[in-house]
Amino acid sequence: MRTRLHIVKNEPQPSQAPVVFEIDQLCKRFKTNGSGDVSVLKDITFMARRGEMICILGQSGCGKSTLLKILAGFMPPTSGSVRLNGRPVRRPGPDRCMVFQEDALFPWLTVRENIAFGLKDRRMDRDTKKREIDRFLSLVDLTDFENYLPQEISGGMKQRVSLARVLILQPEVLLMDEPFAALDAQTREEMQNLLLALWQKFKHTILFVTHDVGEAVLLAERILLFEKGPGRIREDITISLPRPRRKDTNAYFLNCRSMTAKIKAIGVEG
Ligand SMILES: Nc1ncnc2c1ncn2[C@@H]1O[C@H](COP(=O)(O)OP(=O)(O)OP(=O)(O)O)[C@@H](O)[C@H]1O
Ligand SMILES: [Mg+2]
Repeated sequence: MRTRLHIVKNEPQPSQAPVVFEIDQLCKRFKTNGSGDVSVLKDITFMARRGEMICILGQSGCGKSTLLKILAGFMPPTSGSVRLNGRPVRRPGPDRCMVFQEDALFPWLTVRENIAFGLKDRRMDRDTKKREIDRFLSLVDLTDFENYLPQEISGGMKQRVSLARVLILQPEVLLMDEPFAALDAQTREEMQNLLLALWQKFKHTILFVTHDVGEAVLLAERILLFEKGPGRIREDITISLPRPRRKDTNAYFLNCRSMTAKIKAIGVEG
């Protein structure tokens, strides 16, 4: 079902951008010890257009991480299809990058070396490589910390390194699995604003998993509301709030309230 929250003036027209991801009737079953198969995702069908920011909301265990792993090409679906720019996804590719809640930085490499890591196999002359690393260090405001090790920086800074090390690869799609969930409220808000600024600059297509209604309303153009047992899309909701969005506005508050009511009505916890 497709619904719309709080129609606002100057509402953007539905995007006519090309389709990037096409997920059709995707199902995932896992074999379990003892109880046979368990159905984790059932009949997932949606598409993502170029430059869209889509948030996935749903209770623990409804298959959000499993879905992202399938889209990343880390595991195949049991049935159904995933197409990226018209081609079936069968394995990981440079066009998709995943960002996780727990930072996956190399502890023995500095901030700079972590950001540079993915470029080591790219054909690029030394000067261009250096310029790119400097540019991305600066974009996430870590130039002064380039020689620090991960254990010497804060959680928010680690997530900025995690972002920079995937953005430098210039992927078309970012798959983000609760990337800010472990951060305190203030750092989380800074990261949300940084992500929005980078998204507006680079126009990635972003699929962002979160449990936080406020985060989804701040970020998303669309929210896919998942239900559990097996995981399915219950609603596909367009958030029409104009940008920049501010958390201290009535429109933002009303959107969060409507969204929370919707979640409660269908018994899905964010
Ligand atoms: N490799 C696996 N083998 C068997 N079962 C699995 C496997 N991976 C995930 N599952 C099961 O699939 C279900 C969905 O897991 P998943 O991690 O995708 O949920 P989630 O929505 O991301 O939850 P959370 O919000 O807690 O992160 C869970 O019941 C989990 O136990
Ligand atoms: Mg998960």
